[in-house]
Amino acid sequence: MSIYGSYDQVLPKILETTRMRIQQLNDQVVAADQPKLYEHLIGRVKEPASMEEKCRRKGYPVTTESALRRCRDAVGLRIVCNFIDDIDRCLTQLRQADWCTIVKEKDYITNAKPNGYRSYHLILDEETPYTDIEGQNPGHFFVEIQLRTIAMDSWASLEHEMKYKHDIKDPERISRELKHCADQLASCDVQMQTIRQLIHEDDEGMGQ
Ligand code: GTP
Ligand code: MG
Repeated sequence: MSIYGSYDQVLPKILETTRMRIQQLNDQVVAADQPKLYEHLIGRVKEPASMEEKCRRKGYPVTTESALRRCRDAVGLRIVCNFIDDIDRCLTQLRQADWCTIVKEKDYITNAKPNGYRSYHLILDEETPYTDIEGQNPGHFFVEIQLRTIAMDSWASLEHEMKYKHDIKDPERISRELKHCADQLASCDVQMQTIRQLIHEDDEGMGQ
């Protein structure tokens, strides 16, 4: 039995339910002739071994209760957007969605981490058709959402890879280069947003 206990089967279903709900938000926006909310959407259920390690690291008892209620990222989805503005549009949609409440927000875009990491993190309290650990149905489950642009995502994936390479000769140099890269990508995101705006204004002009 994994740390998720009888929720081993339920967590993948919650992941799929959430994925479907976010896709529906996008479908509605596209049906209203607005640009798509995101480029792609990926999700995962945290590996039981990683969840056990996280509970230990945080000093929580290694129990299903800790995995589902104290840690709130057993189920996680990443929404990867083309433009910075799309992150705000996703946020607006999620704030209005009747199937979830946002219980925590971390804005690592306005306040990037010192290493250069950028992303907007949310913890949702989601209502689901599954019985939760308190025995309630509809059950409430936490889901972590990470919102990023493609540029932020490419940086995070590269940096993540570097984290596990412990035999590098000059880690300070690599950190410095990575930080520099993050800042350049952030500046690119702003430029791309400007280009989109300009194209948009042209479109509007043609319509008159
Ligand atoms: P965790 O114990 O890792 O869940 O930390 P936390 O609860 O303080 O969460 P935080 O919101 O800071 O980060 C959660 C997740 O964001 C991580 O599991 C990563 O997926 C991602 N993340 C946060 N910081 C970084 C970073 O510096 N680099 C990369 N590549 N990803 C990060
Ligand atoms: Mg986490």
